[in-house]
Amino acid sequence: MLDVQGLEVSYGATRVLEGVSFSVLEGRIVALLGGNGSGKSTVLNTLSGLLRPQKGVILLSGRNVAGRPTHEIVRGGMAQVPQGREVFASMTVAENLDLGATTRHDKAEVGRDREDVFALFPRLRERFRRRAGSLSGGEQQMVAIGRALMSHPRILLMDEPSVGLSPAVVGDMIEAIRMLHARGLTVLLVEQNVGVAAAVAHEAKVLQGGRIAYSGPAAGLLDNEEVLRSYLG
Ligand SMILES: Nc1ncnc2c1ncn2[C@@H]1O[C@H](COP(=O)(O)OP(=O)(O)OP(=O)(O)O)[C@@H](O)[C@H]1O
Ligand SMILES: [Mg+2]
Repeated sequence: MLDVQGLEVSYGATRVLEGVSFSVLEGRIVALLGGNGSGKSTVLNTLSGLLRPQKGVILLSGRNVAGRPTHEIVRGGMAQVPQGREVFASMTVAENLDLGATTRHDKAEVGRDREDVFALFPRLRERFRRRAGSLSGGEQQMVAIGRALMSHPRILLMDEPSVGLSPAVVGDMIEAIRMLHARGLTVLLVEQNVGVAAAVAHEAKVLQGGRIAYSGPAAGLLDNEEVLRSYLG
């Protein structure tokens, strides 16, 4: 589904990604882990077309989308839930969700996808007309995920969805990711919380020094002293 080869990305003179390669098979949940500043968001932002790589290939269902504009990548089936949620606070929940559907040609299907978002997050249906800024952190995260789902993606990129949420709400988030997976969605999940990654992902990749330093099964990550000590502090 997604095959990343030799991705190099710099900010000015500072090279952050030194050749990142990994793949995400269809139907898998893959966690991308790494310390603060290791470049996790840089990877996701490059995949979604917000950053242009100096080198490398991003094959999305076999087509190289490296350096392509975001709307084209979204149409190609890959959508991102940004770090920090970034919902539009003064707009309603409904308006935020509609923003996710602007790249679509199949407008007739949009209503059905909105129903799917409400089935996943019933609380959003109740708060449909509320300003997004008036919602709790967990509810805003649901809006951010819902907005990405409104583009009808086949692969969802999630950047630290658990940050700042209470343990109970993190549990809800894990449940939502499992339900999305059961519906057939492929997920690339950036996490700092190794517990969340181990609970929900099939595979884990650890970013360190601008490269993938570890790749293996996600289950058992919490017992893997070497990985925890060497890469995740
Ligand atoms: N717009 C930017 N301009 C310059 N440097 C940047 C920019 N964005 C990120 N960086 C730097 O690139 C490095 C990687 O940042 P990135 O946000 O990808 O890390 P991260 O792994 O997502 O970190 P975190 O876990 O804190 O979200 C950091 O050293 C950061 O300071
Ligand atoms: Mg980040």
